[in-house]
Amino acid sequence: MVEKSSQKVALITGASSGIGEAIAHKLADENYRLVLCARRQEKLAKLTEKLKEKNSGILTLKVDLRQEADILNMFNTVRNQWGGVDVLINNAGLGHKEPLMTGETEAWREMLEVNVLALCICTREAIKDMSDRNQGHIIHISSMSGHRVPLSSGVYAASKYAVKALTEGLRQELREANKNIKISSISPGFVETEFAEKYNNSKEKAQALYSSFPVLKPQDIANAVSYILSQPDYVQIHDILLRPTQQKS
Ligand SMILES: NC(=O)c1ccc[n+]([C@@H]2O[C@H](COP(=O)([O-])OP(=O)(O)OC[C@H]3O[C@@H](n4cnc5c(N)ncnc54)[C@H](OP(=O)(O)O)[C@@H]3O)[C@@H](O)[C@H]2O)c1
Repeated sequence: MVEKSSQKVALITGASSGIGEAIAHKLADENYRLVLCARRQEKLAKLTEKLKEKNSGILTLKVDLRQEADILNMFNTVRNQWGGVDVLINNAGLGHKEPLMTGETEAWREMLEVNVLALCICTREAIKDMSDRNQGHIIHISSMSGHRVPLSSGVYAASKYAVKALTEGLRQELREANKNIKISSISPGFVETEFAEKYNNSKEKAQALYSSFPVLKPQDIANAVSYILSQPDYVQIHDILLRPTQQKS
């Protein structure tokens, strides 16, 4: 049976660490019911323990975003339990430093499947719910790499340039269809998360990057999410670009 509540439902992909985890804290503070998904269940369980004090409505789901069946099951579970989602934060993503001249195909495939294809599938499924509810907001966590191309990051940047096109493409489709659904994007520079360790395949390189100057904190991105969601109906933020003050490009 679908539980009725005035609390909005926000689904955050990649909530097990970094930016997604910070957004979960922020939206729990703002009284959303949360759907948190990722592959690492133990991390989601720890996060749920911390969030319990703030918010009773938390659903955690083990989802591998490279598996479409996992994504469809997740949306069906949310529909059955809470009637669907009001807010979708397409946050999950990753980078591998795998250059165009020498990179591994599997690393390229993972970036494109998670950063682009899964984001499209989640968006389509969320829009079904939002159309039924006649309201909704989708926020893509993109990157400064959707605005310029760092050396050896061609495929990661391509995935985030795709997110840029998908943001504008969806804006146009939603407007054409006269839907009461907004689409926004956030494009961060360096943020201290697990991202750089995975990107460089090295804890030391990640630590060196994050200690070279003050980089953004995941909470800075969560604050941008909150700002976007707090706008009146007629204001649609398109993209927020934010870098650490000392970041070069
Ligand atoms: N950190 C930065 O400097 C930076 C800058 C610009 C943009 N971004 C973007 O910010 C977003 C969040 O990254 P982050 O910095 O917070 O990195 P992070 O700490 O590594 O978090 C990445 C999240 O994505 C999830 N994820 C990855 N592959 C997945 C899969 N196949 N299925 C389900 N979940 C998956 C991870 O969960 P599991 O591993 O538990 O599945 C994790 O929760 C990404 O889109 C990234 O491109 C980051």
